[in-house]
Amino acid sequence: MDNIFSASFIKHPKYKKGAAILFSKAFTAEKPVKSAKLYISCLGVYVARINDRRVGDYILAPGWTVYNKRLQYQTYDVTDMINAGENTITAEVGSGWRFHRVERLGTKHIKPDQPALIASLCLTYDDGSVEILNTDKTWKSCESKTVYNNMYNGETYDDNFSAKERNAVAFPHTKDILIPQEGEKIAERERVPAQKLIITPKGDTVIDFGQELTGYVEFKAKAPKGTELKITHFEVLDKNGNVYVKNLRKAKQQLRFISSGKEMPFKPSLTFYGFRFIKLEGFKDVDLNDFTAIAVYSDMKRTGYFESSDPLLNRLYENIIWGQRGNFLDVPTDCPQRDERLGWTGDAQVFSRVASMNYDVSTFFRKWLNDVAADQKENGEITHVIPTITWTSGGSAAWGDAATICPWQMYLTYGNKQDLENNFPMMKKWVDYIKNCAADKSLKKDFKGNPSPYLWNTGKHFGDWLALDLGDEDARGLTDEDYIASAFFAYSTELLIKAGEVLGKDMSEHKELYENIVKAFREEYVNNDGTIKVNTQTACVLALKFALTPNREAAAKQLVALLRKVGHLTTGFVGTPYLLHVLTDIGEIELAYDLMLRKEYPSWLYPVTQGATTMWERWNGQKPDGSFAPASMNSFNHYAYGAVGDWLYAAAAGITMREGTVAFEDIIFKPYTDKRLSFVKASIETKLGTVASEWRTEGDKTVYIFTVPAGAKAEAVLCGNTYALKEGQNTITL
Ligand code: BGC
Repeated sequence: MDNIFSASFIKHPKYKKGAAILFSKAFTAEKPVKSAKLYISCLGVYVARINDRRVGDYILAPGWTVYNKRLQYQTYDVTDMINAGENTITAEVGSGWRFHRVERLGTKHIKPDQPALIASLCLTYDDGSVEILNTDKTWKSCESKTVYNNMYNGETYDDNFSAKERNAVAFPHTKDILIPQEGEKIAERERVPAQKLIITPKGDTVIDFGQELTGYVEFKAKAPKGTELKITHFEVLDKNGNVYVKNLRKAKQQLRFISSGKEMPFKPSLTFYGFRFIKLEGFKDVDLNDFTAIAVYSDMKRTGYFESSDPLLNRLYENIIWGQRGNFLDVPTDCPQRDERLGWTGDAQVFSRVASMNYDVSTFFRKWLNDVAADQKENGEITHVIPTITWTSGGSAAWGDAATICPWQMYLTYGNKQDLENNFPMMKKWVDYIKNCAADKSLKKDFKGNPSPYLWNTGKHFGDWLALDLGDEDARGLTDEDYIASAFFAYSTELLIKAGEVLGKDMSEHKELYENIVKAFREEYVNNDGTIKVNTQTACVLALKFALTPNREAAAKQLVALLRKVGHLTTGFVGTPYLLHVLTDIGEIELAYDLMLRKEYPSWLYPVTQGATTMWERWNGQKPDGSFAPASMNSFNHYAYGAVGDWLYAAAAGITMREGTVAFEDIIFKPYTDKRLSFVKASIETKLGTVASEWRTEGDKTVYIFTVPAGAKAEAVLCGNTYALKEGQNTITL
């Protein structure tokens, strides 16, 4: 067992809300050191230093987990940092993500957002003897120069501040929650130089980085002693070109730096911001070279690439990538800027497929799904956000279904059966939860419709979140919530059965359940002529995608008619991810491309024409007249609609797998061309190597180039014909 378990949690004897605490310990290395290891974690987030050098490059360690059950600790090899003789180790600890859920995490020994540290430094000397330095009451503590820190509001750093050191207090706190690092580390990734200095019509000094991102700004602080330099981070300028911060809601997103007169580079270390622009106050003679934005997110390996002849489509794809960068900061979040930034399950579910093409997210999702399981209630309910926070409830269709959809998607992309095995109990508990809700009609007093225990017409759901078919400001859309819930009841049950079969389990009971759900669904929601009773785009999409209708042709016609009638999509979070896949399946390729390449509102490319550099939360985030959607819910960095990226890989470039196979071991290239594009190319790094697909038009011919990694089987399906492919590059001209 790692030594951290023999250390104590320590805190500063005085609690001051918002203050970061600096813990320290001086020690002497009596003999030559052969190796040194630091095990460390905290309640909050920490930055550790030995002899003033930062330990490791993990940002916002120890990361965000279901803290009352799972708290990661990190292990660093610090051999090279130890001096012969005198040494000092310090750790600055801020309140971090714990503030989100304050009421739950306090004990009688520690306030909910109060920083605390636990660490163990193990020195092994050349002669084989070992010395262990555990956090205990011999450590010192004081308030640090970060006099205020908060994940939503930002940081205040006072370079003139110094506080009295006291003895730290060791306090009883369970160590059963400690687990070794499980997710990806969080790291500084892209560095984006400042692009433009703007003086707004209202006279504010603003820097535009030209790219919305999540992280912070590094800048050169140079100002007379006592000057306060203030940076406000925000996403967009309003239609008059002025600073717009209303959509951040209560999150202040500020950095305050109080100068000691010393010129120094500075960046915050206990918080993060979502922004493209910053407003500067207190700065004199602004030099753009002094400002760099740093993107901070989980250290995932990039695996997917896409490019086409259409610059707008390429920018959309880049926005999807930036959406993932901005919201895969240890937990898949809805957004990185306003006072929310939570692990919304529905958003994670819809984006998980494309996420796993863009980056290797196997480690990232393994950790998060362990958190989903840790927070799953006894009765199987999944809360809306994971890690759960105090104010949230749970059990929404398409949100809770993250419990089945994400593990299944990770299995499809990476083929790791062990992951599926680990997640199976959670998947089953979720399906059984729905089954019990559907059977228990007492849960819904105003119960309407068929009392079948196979229809999930109880509970509260988010519906087709942000769909446009009830007008562009209504959040829940027109598609009946119970319809969506029952459709997902069927879908989750189907995925559970598939997972169980892969794992060799007897799934007969759930198969019977599935058949009953489909039967009840058809009786309740499918007309005699095969059309779907709930007459919306999303309803048709779900019936087709989840194979819930016996008459696909009628539902397909209905969907096409609905789309043609309005001339654009009206789907929300639930229908949108499947829309183009369904159109492709029913042979409506041109219509799929019409929607994909449409530039007018509402469409995927409309925000791109408005200069978006990340995915917007709403189709109408900023309207053609420059006005904004309601500030109460209008993020400009919300990846959910970016789910369309998987259609770019799977249909535009045509990289798919044979049904029943995983991890791109048996590839079917099935690209769909469109006359509005002259080329498309995409590649995905898989466990067997690079899978790539490219097509380009040359005169009246189309040249296809497919790359097959060694060890994979592959064929191409082009214009209805099948071509066997060999390892390496294959070129076919038609
Ligand atoms: C979040 C979403 C989330 C939704 C649930 C919003 O506040 O930002 O993305 O899925 O609530 O309805």
